[in-house]
Amino acid sequence: MPVISIKTSIPGPKSQALLARRASAVPQGPFHIAPIFAEHCAGATLTDVDGNVYLDFSGGLGSLNAGHANPKVVEAVTTQARKFLHTCFHIAQYEPYVALAEKLNAITPGRFTKKTLLVNSGAEAIENAVKIARYFTKRPAVIGFEHGFAGRTLLTMSLTSKVMPYKFGFGPFAPEVYRLPYPYAYRSELDEDGMIAQMHEFFQTHVDPNQVACVIMELVLGEGGFVVAPRRYVQALAEYCRDTGILFVADEIQTGFARTGRMFATEHYEIEPDLITTAKSLAGGMPLAAVTGRAEVMDSVHVGGLGGTYGGNPVACAAALATIDEIERLKLSDRAGRIGQTLRTRAEEWQKRHPMIGDVRGLGLMQAMELVTDPQSKEPAPALVNAVMEATRERGLLIGKGGMYNNVLRLSPAMNIAKSDVDEALRLLDQSFAAVSQIASSAAGA
Ligand SMILES: Cc1ncc(COP(=O)(O)O)c(C=O)c1O
Repeated sequence: MPVISIKTSIPGPKSQALLARRASAVPQGPFHIAPIFAEHCAGATLTDVDGNVYLDFSGGLGSLNAGHANPKVVEAVTTQARKFLHTCFHIAQYEPYVALAEKLNAITPGRFTKKTLLVNSGAEAIENAVKIARYFTKRPAVIGFEHGFAGRTLLTMSLTSKVMPYKFGFGPFAPEVYRLPYPYAYRSELDEDGMIAQMHEFFQTHVDPNQVACVIMELVLGEGGFVVAPRRYVQALAEYCRDTGILFVADEIQTGFARTGRMFATEHYEIEPDLITTAKSLAGGMPLAAVTGRAEVMDSVHVGGLGGTYGGNPVACAAALATIDEIERLKLSDRAGRIGQTLRTRAEEWQKRHPMIGDVRGLGLMQAMELVTDPQSKEPAPALVNAVMEATRERGLLIGKGGMYNNVLRLSPAMNIAKSDVDEALRLLDQSFAAVSQIASSAAGA
């Protein structure tokens, strides 16, 4: 039985009415990929206020690894909410915060004693990782990556490299932020050795390593379009950091919690980051984030130097404990690997048929296709991405986009998605590529 059901034009009348209210009440700043409003969601499906049912392959921007409204998570949230919603951890402490810290210390990579700080968002996790790294090392500089995304606060916006829409008009930015070129094979002239040499040279041409507190790296770019960093590059960078006293921070905000086919993407690289930032799927859709790392680094900061009113909210902690339990119980890492491979195989088939698909890449259930106007010139084709997204949406499939040039289609559904739903999504993507290819080739011939 297909789960998708599109009953109205999109947006339907109720979504249209809400769009009008939104336009008067909410600034235009927060973007949306689909002009619809959710009414209820379950697993990999989203039902809008007009009763249209979609398959959701964007997964709340990567935050719904265990599915929309996972019943075990909802139950944990309800149970905790009945006891209390909030005390503020600085006023009266509670067990779920400690239990979640213990869990994250146990499951994150690194064979050393760890401690975990809980905060509210991915950006806040990175802000705190930088605070801690600076405090511990007594060094000012921070290194991020070109094509990287770290968030929308001043420091994380400074680390982010995409100007429009994230930085445009929002300066001045935080000082002592440097960006390494990301090892982006599809768009780099360099081979892996060249990329590693470039990384070493960066510490001569851009910043003295003795002034650097930390390097923050997404092992697979999220917003940057699911570019997978080569293993040897990451290992070389981790080694350089170790040798020079720079802390290596793995930003697992989007890659964490089974998304890449392992609990953490770090596990693919056999490195031990000093600090790991997590958020998004950590709490199954509740706002929560964490910094987990070497106990001596985490503990170096004085009492009162870290925290916040809502950081580690008890309801969010209960949600996180249940989410991680579900990911482990349902072996979602293995499932992400298997479904990811299915998507990858089909995407490679489409690439042979549709020259607009310049690159197919990803890790686990984080799969992307980079669209170009021509496979030789590799000129980015954001208009084709929008056309494919519109074509899939009309058919009831929501997918995400990303990349520096807005030309990457991103697929990251819930990992407990039914096999029949994956097949349905592939069928709709197949149709959508065919439809867009036809329009593109008739336009080219016209
Ligand atoms: C890799 C990465 N880091 C940081 C962030 C910022 O997280 P948040 O939006 O929760 O502040 C994101 C969000 O997309 C992300 O993907």
